[in-house]
Amino acid sequence: MADKTGIRIIATGRALPLRSVSNDDLKAYMDTDDEWIYTRTGIRERRFCDPETEDTISMAVEAARLAIDKAQTEIPGFDTGEIGAVIATSCSASYMLPSIASMVQTELGLHKDILAYDLNAACSGFVFGLITGRGLLLAEGYKYCLVISSEQLSKELDLRERSTGILFGDGAGAAIIELDKTSGAAAFAGKAWSDGNMEALRCAIYPGGTLAEESPVRERKTVIEMNGHEVFRFAAAAVPQTIDTLLESSGMSLEGIDYILCHQANARIIDHVKKKYKGYEDKFLMNIASYGNTSSASIPILLDEMLESGIVKKNSKLLCVGFGAGLAWGGAIVNV
Ligand code: UT7
Repeated sequence: MADKTGIRIIATGRALPLRSVSNDDLKAYMDTDDEWIYTRTGIRERRFCDPETEDTISMAVEAARLAIDKAQTEIPGFDTGEIGAVIATSCSASYMLPSIASMVQTELGLHKDILAYDLNAACSGFVFGLITGRGLLLAEGYKYCLVISSEQLSKELDLRERSTGILFGDGAGAAIIELDKTSGAAAFAGKAWSDGNMEALRCAIYPGGTLAEESPVRERKTVIEMNGHEVFRFAAAAVPQTIDTLLESSGMSLEGIDYILCHQANARIIDHVKKKYKGYEDKFLMNIASYGNTSSASIPILLDEMLESGIVKKNSKLLCVGFGAGLAWGGAIVNV
């Protein structure tokens, strides 16, 4: 039987670019308006990095530093030397190499002999990071794993393209996890799926021109392409499938879950899912109005904000659900 040892998120942090871009600001690039965007997505504004000073590395470092600061303040005896692994998730990394995780490792002066690598599961990255991070804690005996999700999708957007230009934003969130052996035999449930769909949502790298003596460096262009209707339909089915599967495999009901944190892709997707869980609507948390869709960073940003505001209290049980390109989706039940 699979090991059911739970995980606890002991500390979180978040980092958001300074520049806020309102729905009205987007009118400079495309024919749109605040009312259309808010009614169709629940988004009022998003943050875009200043490319001169902010990127996936700087945000990942800041979010991780804040999570570590909190752990040092709140957890007696917390020692960064016991972080055995750093997993950074991103589908918009600023560098092909080195990894975001190894840059964070260096910037924060973490041990040299730890496991540090990046994971790309698009918008499901944070949840996949929790599942694989837990696997490492169990297999390798590390005390802590640092999971960071950092995204700068603004650099992949064509702001003339209305369906994607309005949706995405930049940001990063981080969580330090440990095994929670006190939380009972059915403490953990995690499940991930992927169906290999290449068409619904992708960000291809188009190499421009050919390599020639007079032009030894190819120009590259990356841009997000999305079939909004197809992704919407997929998400509306994938989220309940994930929730139901996790509840069944953990033997829990929604009564036992304090909050549900879905990837913040579009408020309408979450509103649609809520209708299936009558009486539990208040358990679905949202902050998409302020940040738009920050891909894999959306769940840890939401969690950090909700912990800070006191809406999510310590010792809560959370059900996290991610979904996006791949098409990949999945979830995890965790404690905070
Ligand atoms: O994390 C990754 C996951 N991605 C997602 O979850 C995306 C899921 N899909 C969506 O969120 C929605 O499909 C969108 C928000 C992208 C689009 O909303 P929609 O309700 O599917 O709109 P639509 O594409 O059906 O467009 C409806 C109308 C069209 O006009 P006509 O043909 O009815 O005259 C569009 O041209 O709205 C028009 N339109 C816009 N109007 C103003 C499309 N985009 C805009 C816009 N502003 N930005």
